[in-house]
Amino acid sequence: MQKEAKSMEKIVSLCKRRGFVFPGSEIYGCFANSWDFGPYGIELKNNIAQIWWKTFVQSRDDIVGLDSAIITNPQVWEASGHVANFNDPLIDCLKCKARYRADKLLEEKIGVEETTKIASEDLESKIKEYKISCPVCGSSNWTKIRKFNLLFETHIGVIADKKNVAYLRGETAQGIFINFKNVLNTTRQKLPFGIAQIGKAFRNEITPGHFIFRTREFEQMEIEYFIAPPKTEADWKKPFEKWQEELKDFFKEKLGISEKNMRWRRHDEKERSHYSQETFDVEYNFPGMGFAELLGFAYRTDYDLKQHIKYSGADLSCIDEKGNKIIPHCIEPSFGLTRTFLAVVCEAYEEEKVKNETRIVMKFLPELAPVKIAIFPLIRNKPELVEIARHIFEDLKTKFVCEFDDNGNIGKRYRRQDEIGTPFCVTVDFETLENKTVTVRDRDTMKQERVKVERLKDFFSAKLSI
Ligand code: GAP
Repeated sequence: MQKEAKSMEKIVSLCKRRGFVFPGSEIYGCFANSWDFGPYGIELKNNIAQIWWKTFVQSRDDIVGLDSAIITNPQVWEASGHVANFNDPLIDCLKCKARYRADKLLEEKIGVEETTKIASEDLESKIKEYKISCPVCGSSNWTKIRKFNLLFETHIGVIADKKNVAYLRGETAQGIFINFKNVLNTTRQKLPFGIAQIGKAFRNEITPGHFIFRTREFEQMEIEYFIAPPKTEADWKKPFEKWQEELKDFFKEKLGISEKNMRWRRHDEKERSHYSQETFDVEYNFPGMGFAELLGFAYRTDYDLKQHIKYSGADLSCIDEKGNKIIPHCIEPSFGLTRTFLAVVCEAYEEEKVKNETRIVMKFLPELAPVKIAIFPLIRNKPELVEIARHIFEDLKTKFVCEFDDNGNIGKRYRRQDEIGTPFCVTVDFETLENKTVTVRDRDTMKQERVKVERLKDFFSAKLSI
């Protein structure tokens, strides 16, 4: 089958047209880089989050869950280093006043890999050396580079002054570190074990964009996996490498993302965050953007627990099997949920030529599909067909997410379901009245088969593994 090239514009358009993602505050003329998840978007996002939770929390006995607060004591962010170090290099064009991240300007000119080799204090001279001009007005007249902190500040209570500053969390991870002892004391976990959390994070990004790829409000799915302090390099490398294999399997088997579209990029020393001793960006090949970060995977050592011990005075140690007090180290797979959503949508999007027409189809794995089965009466003005279709819908929706549709011709209904990625469509037609069978149409092959109405539930349970 002939396939057309994907593009981010086509994907954004489908997301809006079919109720996956809407521009935020649209009736007020929108609000830059804010997006709302529509009826099919929230189903897909929830499915991704549920599969992640089931894989990494419910199916394992060494990881437990947590849901911590978004607004915490501001000392959390001082201890974590975010107040001092969570900065992006900001540069302004003196002519047109356009504002950029200096490293991103360089990335566009010389690529990510070369840019990451440049120390932050050298960015300014490199902008000059590579004669980088403003993408808006073409001027090469730049301000000096300033550090811009990404934490979102807010104020608690009625008076806004320095004393009541608080921050919206910049990562869900810190909520895990500050609850480490609570979790240890209330579960029977022993090292190695992990704590997982899904939730919103906020960053005052200088250059949000590429649809929901980089936004100021987004969701993360993070695991902090605590291990005993390593005595040798192998002691952390072994679990780190095991995690790499588990993550690769998850992307392929549970999210349906092909290996050819994934890349593991190791950070060198200059690129690594202040807390990390080893980091990989797991990247996805986004249409029109190329490879860009989907997941951050880091060995955070004992940095965070030690910082919180230092700032809070709390005892966050635990006792090893020999009775010694130890501060665990930590391995962190940090997924962006909203970014994973974008990767899943990009991966699933296909345009196929079918009899001189273009069919757009979202080839989600069935477990991820927002709707599993659509049920149609062949025509809406035949009450006997509508009644049977309604009956099938009422029955199947007790087990699967289903949709009933009697609007428009059957071809249009199939196209609509293809565009939201529904794996199966059931049509009640005149043959149903004769032999109590319906047609079941497969989204990917478009083949149809007749199935007895009474067998439908078992048939779909087997097909959808539910
Ligand atoms: N706790 C470690 C941490 O937060 P990170 O690499 O800064 O590491 C982890 O973020 C993941 O969160 C990224 O790989 C990305 O998927 C997602 N993410 C980060 N900033 C984002 C943004 N502005 N918009 C959408 N997703 C973002």
